[in-house]
Amino acid sequence: MSFSTHFSHAITRRPSASITRGLRAVDTGTPDLALMQAHQAAYIATLRETGATVVELPALDAYPDSVFVEDTALCLPQGAVIMRPGAPSRLGEAAEMAPHLQALYTRVVAITGSDSFIEGGDILVTGREILVGRSARTNAAGIAELTRLVAPWGHKVREVLTPPGVLHFKTDCSLLDTDTILSTSRLSASGCFEGYTVIDIPDGEEAAANTIRFNDLVLMPAGFPHTRDAITRAGFTLREIGNSECAKLDGGMSCLSLRFTPS
Ligand code: GLY
Repeated sequence: MSFSTHFSHAITRRPSASITRGLRAVDTGTPDLALMQAHQAAYIATLRETGATVVELPALDAYPDSVFVEDTALCLPQGAVIMRPGAPSRLGEAAEMAPHLQALYTRVVAITGSDSFIEGGDILVTGREILVGRSARTNAAGIAELTRLVAPWGHKVREVLTPPGVLHFKTDCSLLDTDTILSTSRLSASGCFEGYTVIDIPDGEEAAANTIRFNDLVLMPAGFPHTRDAITRAGFTLREIGNSECAKLDGGMSCLSLRFTPS
């Protein structure tokens, strides 16, 4: 079992009524809070089904995107790193998360450089290495600072590129096991997954690329039958979770939790 696929804990945050003001690349409609809450309840129940402890934090009205907790921290076996989100409206979310990680981890460090920006959605931890996609939210200074912070913990960071126009690196890929990555072909074509087995997302289902492997389950957004079949054929046990409301805000399965085993 790898630290990149098996976890004892997850942290989630309830969506706030202010979610209607959440950031989005394209306006495809106003997210429905009640439906988002129902989808989140199914997501949390599925995480718990694997035996994990799931912490549910209260909604933060001041931060419309704060349901997407993944962007606030990187959780590793040795400690947690508090991020510095590149979206100005999300910068304060990181400080809101810090005490909850400090309560569980012995070591919590933070990205602090005033020019450093980095969001968890741009980080894929494979177990062999940490891939970080430079994006509109994550810059070279943020990646360099993360590299320095995690080097003493034995982790290697490799800088890669998030495709232009894509919110986060993990919008377009996810880890299914330490050797296997689910990816859009526009991302895998860059060659960044050389040495891994890549399952390419079938054309037209790019919105299904953001899944999570959580213990023995893969959680994926509902409504993408070709991707569902490809993951099942590869031998993984799946759960489909409604994601229509988070998708309106460019959010997916990984965005909705921090997953870790505290030390
Ligand atoms: N709506 C999620 C984000 O833009 O960070």
